[in-house]
Amino acid sequence: MRIFFCNDSRDLMDKLIINGGRPLDGAIRISGAKNAVLPILAGTLLAEGPVTVSNVPHLNDVTTTVSLLGRMGVDLVVDEKLNIEVDPQTIKEFCAPYELVKTMRASILVLGPLLARYGRAEVSLPGGCAIGSRPVDLHIKGLQAMGAEIDVQNGYILAKAKRLRGAKLVMDTVTVTGTENLLMAATLAEGETIIENAAREPEVVDLADFLNKMGAQISGAGTPTITVKGVDSLKGVRYRVLPDRIETGTYLVAAAITGGRIKVKDTDPKLLDSVIVKLRDAGAKITLGDDWIELDMQGRRPQAVTVKTAPYPAFPTDMQAQFTALNVVAEGTGSVTENVFENRFMHVQEMQRMGADVRVEGKTALTRGVKNLNGAQVMATDLRASASLIIAGLVANGETVVDRIYHIDRGYEAIEEKLSQLGGKIRRIAV
Ligand code: UD1
Repeated sequence: MRIFFCNDSRDLMDKLIINGGRPLDGAIRISGAKNAVLPILAGTLLAEGPVTVSNVPHLNDVTTTVSLLGRMGVDLVVDEKLNIEVDPQTIKEFCAPYELVKTMRASILVLGPLLARYGRAEVSLPGGCAIGSRPVDLHIKGLQAMGAEIDVQNGYILAKAKRLRGAKLVMDTVTVTGTENLLMAATLAEGETIIENAAREPEVVDLADFLNKMGAQISGAGTPTITVKGVDSLKGVRYRVLPDRIETGTYLVAAAITGGRIKVKDTDPKLLDSVIVKLRDAGAKITLGDDWIELDMQGRRPQAVTVKTAPYPAFPTDMQAQFTALNVVAEGTGSVTENVFENRFMHVQEMQRMGADVRVEGKTALTRGVKNLNGAQVMATDLRASASLIIAGLVANGETVVDRIYHIDRGYEAIEEKLSQLGGKIRRIAV
């Protein structure tokens, strides 16, 4: 096994120091989507030949997935352009251990492919997480309906099946990785699987496109009903991951909040409708191209907006914290309602430490915009909360120190380099 993709020396205790108060101005390139590359890498396990995945972002979650596959004995080669070639046929073990699953919940995505292709899997339960309990009951229920025998013992999901059978699956809740796990399992099942109330996220569609390229027969991805006709085998292919819509949205908000101007390139504007509507409500002038978005605040302060998260195509929960940051410095009163996760407002307390007038009532963060935030020492608690604190730091007076930034490295490629390219004053220090 050769793995050239390893954790760099960035330490868990690194901090980001931001000197705010300058409008961002410039252009950046958007990376491949984290939430697409993770299921696609898990999906390579289904193939009978080598798979090459390109436009892979350099993220710690990708490193974790590579380590996970590597531990199973899967042969992986990562080249200097971060194309990852996976030869799943060298697999020797069928286990996702707790040490890896606890650092990345998306490790659960190997469950469906292992079971479908090899008839067995041992995957640690993800356990709690900073943004709520996040169960995986719907993944398990769906696989059981397809004929899998599943026991949960000592914190592990122990699953086996001779060959999965197609089934009609009606999801109680719209779940992204749940839909993806069942979709992958269904590709090699005997007969037809119908997933009702499926997640419609673009990353689900990207996974389905990837699986279809391998020879799967999936229709309806991107709608609430996905139909999969099981096939006997899937072949190795080359596949390019779609652009990251959440990274795109994060940089657009960063420019908007500073009254600046940005061109984001190599993205897909069609995936950001709900976010673009809210940025226009905030007063941004936005121009769209085929694969780029330009935002210009013309030096103005944003107007506060009302945002309610829900599954795609509604406003994404992964953009909620960034819009809370926008609202705390905007003109007027704003509200951000979180409907997907139960506890996703930890950034609010940190923003209060920077002088924000924001309080949480039930599922809603209510803001009265202040003209100026003040730099402070703040702590990141999850990936998108980290992004929102960095954004707040870009507009705050003086120095903001963001602690525990290992969260940001899970999901944003080269964030300080990209922000520096836009004129932001940001640097990383090792402690
Ligand atoms: C994925 C994304 C994450 C995003 C989230 C919602 C990846 C790798 N991560 O996470 O960035 O914030 O979608 O868009 O793609 N639920 C259950 N039972 C289950 C599964 C989920 O009750 O078996 C609930 C969850 O607690 C949550 C809701 O369903 O309240 C949605 O969660 P889900 O879509 O599963 O999130 P993830 O797939 O983990």
